[in-house]
Amino acid sequence: MICYYNNSFLEKNEIKVSPFDRGFLFGDGIYEAIRTYNSNLFMYEEHLARLKRNLIKININYEKIDALEGIIYELIERNNFSDNEVNVYLQITRGESFPRKHEFPAPSVSPTIFVYALPIDTKKLQNDEGISIILKKDLRWKRCDIKTINLLPAVMAKQEAVLQQAYEAVWHNGNAILEGSHTNFFGVRESRVYTHPLDNSVLPGITREIIKKLCKNLNIPFVEQPVLVAETNLYEEFFITGTTTEIKPVIKIEGEILGGGKPGKISTNLIEAFTELTKNYYGN
Ligand SMILES: Cc1ncc(COP(=O)(O)O)c(C=O)c1O
Repeated sequence: MICYYNNSFLEKNEIKVSPFDRGFLFGDGIYEAIRTYNSNLFMYEEHLARLKRNLIKININYEKIDALEGIIYELIERNNFSDNEVNVYLQITRGESFPRKHEFPAPSVSPTIFVYALPIDTKKLQNDEGISIILKKDLRWKRCDIKTINLLPAVMAKQEAVLQQAYEAVWHNGNAILEGSHTNFFGVRESRVYTHPLDNSVLPGITREIIKKLCKNLNIPFVEQPVLVAETNLYEEFFITGTTTEIKPVIKIEGEILGGGKPGKISTNLIEAFTELTKNYYGN
């Protein structure tokens, strides 16, 4: 498989990352995950805008950012993935500098960029039957709006979910439900969709934005207020969203079956509208 690494297209086994790369030493970097529908990068402008915002938030100056779209399509072509849908992973770190020091290196140090694409098994992905989640007390940092590569809490929580045969671990702060380890979280109460407002405790998900638009189109009130842990019994439905996850109805929380173990009506309507949108997607 060919990947893109610092100005070159290289076989994955040929890529050698320096141990002095600040991504390796400090987790000093950010990432994006994008996917295609009908071989077009879905919501590319929105992903690029988030990437640019994140670079500004952590003070990385990556000058070639506007060339990325061409690089991604070239990567897909070089791998002969053009007939597949693909997931794209893209990471930018502050680059390599020696010796290890916390403060930023000299401006002459260039960021490290890494991109790879992987075909999606689209048949396997169509699992709208519902998933299980576990709830976890949030133990991340206070800037969860940044899509940092520092993902240790997310990795630990997701592993715990997997060990409990659950798909996702969802964070709460002792009162409000925030988001999942790699997804945004939504509740449906009296036919209104609720989700945590955009602040430093959640990632501004691109799929979350799509849910907001679909709700508008379907005349479903979209309320940016969190679901409270103590009030989950007042909700009819829950679902989670993400670029690779798409929309997944939640049918079990902490082992307790919800809605008779079947996806709810609003989740199903949103999935249908999302499927229609992506089926007909041929670029922004
Ligand atoms: C913590 C977190 N929240 C939400 C999301 C969903 O974001 P998006 O819809 O842009 O994929 C992700 C995606 O990786 C995530 O890591």
